[in-house]
Amino acid sequence: MIIKKLQNKNWPVSRTLLEADWKLIIKGQGTVVLPSENHPFSIYLSNSRTENFSGFGLTVDENHASFYHFDKGKKTLLSNSERGTGLDPDRECLYWFSFDSFNSCLRYGKGEQRQQTTIMKYLMPKSSAELDSNWIKSIEHIHICGVNPEAKEIRVWREPVTIEPPLLILPQDAIAMEMVAKYEGTVAENLTSECQKLYANVAGKQFQLNTPDFPCFSDAIEKSIRDPQGWCYQTLRKKAEEFGKTNSNATYLRITLGMNQGESPGIPYVLEIWPSGHYSPIHNHAGANAIIKVLHGKITVRLFNMLSIAHQTPFKTVILQAGDITWITRRLNQTHQLHNEDPNSVCITIQCYLYNIEENSHYEYFDYIDNSGKEIRHFFPNSDMDFLDFKEQMKQEWQRR
Ligand SMILES: [Fe+2]
Repeated sequence: MIIKKLQNKNWPVSRTLLEADWKLIIKGQGTVVLPSENHPFSIYLSNSRTENFSGFGLTVDENHASFYHFDKGKKTLLSNSERGTGLDPDRECLYWFSFDSFNSCLRYGKGEQRQQTTIMKYLMPKSSAELDSNWIKSIEHIHICGVNPEAKEIRVWREPVTIEPPLLILPQDAIAMEMVAKYEGTVAENLTSECQKLYANVAGKQFQLNTPDFPCFSDAIEKSIRDPQGWCYQTLRKKAEEFGKTNSNATYLRITLGMNQGESPGIPYVLEIWPSGHYSPIHNHAGANAIIKVLHGKITVRLFNMLSIAHQTPFKTVILQAGDITWITRRLNQTHQLHNEDPNSVCITIQCYLYNIEENSHYEYFDYIDNSGKEIRHFFPNSDMDFLDFKEQMKQEWQRR
């Protein structure tokens, strides 16, 4: 649910609390996400709109965030976050407040809404007065105070933040009970319908680089990267300034399959070639869904809670091996950096993209942090060569050797 228009609610605003009429989608649970543009703000979740409401609140100021409990209007501090975790240096930062009556948990975080971006968590003690009745499960009213009236939108999600979503997608016959219990893998059916569609296209056993007609394709690419006469070597050299100041390691090759059909940022299927030591900038994906399959070698994936000059430390790092498949949606895994840290082997991946079906704006750029680390720029997803032409080029180079 998106609430687009905010009223001007100054801080502190006890009077305007009563004016609010926003609700959680399901009583007793949900996540509220909002931009604050550096204004201190609060979010209160309550069981009524009267002045003597009971519920829970989050306040965020310049220094830190705080959770509160309200008992018939009486306010009690539950916890404070560490100094420096309040308002963010990035004005575009999204803040979130998760309320989970089933697990008796409050969470506060910034950027993507997931376990690992949680800044403050509060577990209500089982014996506490807060849990003595069912009133906590009846909490549904949302009151938001102090947010800049020019701010664009607030989002309310039906689910609270609970787990860290698994990154690996596994076939149904490969996922075991322990993996589900430990959140080590998921099946495509748990993802968006767009991700399911993309997965179905690339997950099959035949979707491989080295095929009977050219079993040495990956070796040919490796040679072409290392040979100064090779097409890969020469094309990579030309790209050293693609993401800002010259950096020959901040390059990779984009080989596209087919054409842009108007449903993705750029051509939907891209073979990406990562020489040893090469990496992408930190970037996002135009809010699109994506599936990434490692075809050869291994790639290090670093995830970031938002695309921001102020947030260049990943909250998660994983190494994906040949055969591994991972995913991106509008809400999760959207900002990442890929890096081939294997000194001995090229990594080759297939990336495919699809906008959400309800998405009409079709923002066409991947935004990225440039090589200086100080500026965010737009990257139009381009092509270094068509796949069929590239395969022919590699065959010819291979035969000449
Ligand atoms: Fe990417």
